[in-house]
Amino acid sequence: MIYFDNAATSFPKSPRAIAEATVCMRTWCGNPGRGAHFLSRATSEKVYACRELLSDFLGLNAPERIVFTQNTTFALNMALKGALRHGDHVLCSELEHNAVLRPLHALQQERGISFDTFPVLGRTAEQILQEITTRIKKNTAAVVCLHASNICSLSLPLSSIGAFCRARGLLFMVDAAQSAGHLPIDMHTMQIDALAVPAHKGLLGIPGCGVLALGERISLSTLIEGGSGVNSLSRTMPEEFPERFEAGTLPVVAIAGLCGGISHVMELGSTELENRAKRLFFAARERIEALGGFEIYEPTAAGAVLLFNKIGMPSTELARILDKAGICTRAGLHCAPLAHQALKTPTGGAVRLSFGAFNTSAEVDVLWRVLQHEFC
Ligand code: ALA
Repeated sequence: MIYFDNAATSFPKSPRAIAEATVCMRTWCGNPGRGAHFLSRATSEKVYACRELLSDFLGLNAPERIVFTQNTTFALNMALKGALRHGDHVLCSELEHNAVLRPLHALQQERGISFDTFPVLGRTAEQILQEITTRIKKNTAAVVCLHASNICSLSLPLSSIGAFCRARGLLFMVDAAQSAGHLPIDMHTMQIDALAVPAHKGLLGIPGCGVLALGERISLSTLIEGGSGVNSLSRTMPEEFPERFEAGTLPVVAIAGLCGGISHVMELGSTELENRAKRLFFAARERIEALGGFEIYEPTAAGAVLLFNKIGMPSTELARILDKAGICTRAGLHCAPLAHQALKTPTGGAVRLSFGAFNTSAEVDVLWRVLQHEFC
């Protein structure tokens, strides 16, 4: 089996993530803040250590502002629905995933917010800022955008957008679903107010946990309420971070796995992982182009994701052929309909190869031989 679907979830999981999750279940899987005993205290300490690790890794320097969620989509919903008020206007990029588009649409229906998209394809950082500037309105409250697309290897100039937002008093919220672990992130330097991160993709952890990292400027109302382990007499959530935003029992096994995954990524190094993904991208692009009869979308942006089609064939059919040969990919619209429009893929979308920390160039060779056998 060759696994080229790491943008959906990484596979295999890091041995360290598996080891940490297993140790957690065997030795310290209490309920943090909910027990008058050593196991609960030990779990609180381990969870806090993971907040510290994440806070360093993401350049936040405030472990208490690392909020654990069930996934990245939940984190984005918390940030958008917690920060935006009736009548606000928001700008997002043309590449956004439904994890941003659908909450914005819901807010439009329910809270009268409005939003516009700004183009990024083929543009420099300066041109992107110009596109944003022309769309700013009196009531613009925030820019929300992804760091890296889930259907091509384009990434956005976060430092430039962050500085722009800070200078104009706009909130800056970032969807790092496809970049955390693949590209360096520093919330302080990039001036990010809210960052949503998955445990199970580039950070090599297991599903069941996401992270919302909150900068100092942002204030959010809560999305859900419930037990927090503190101040039980009060009918409202506590003011303290992170308890205010963590109603209910935390996914401690996935948090433990995330710690293991991050330490693995740190040892490999985000820059080396980025370079490795680029090498695989170039090898795959060169080979697919040489075969002829295929279209690659956004071929000049190199990185962990390559989107392509056999001309005239539905993407699902190409993915089925690859699946039969033991190669895992994703086909269709990848929950990012606007991005597909921007990249001008057919209505049935395209096939995505997404590389991870454990892929090799020998696997790209196998892909090439399968495509050659089937189509040449
Ligand atoms: N958002 C994930 C993907 O792009 C699931 O496949």
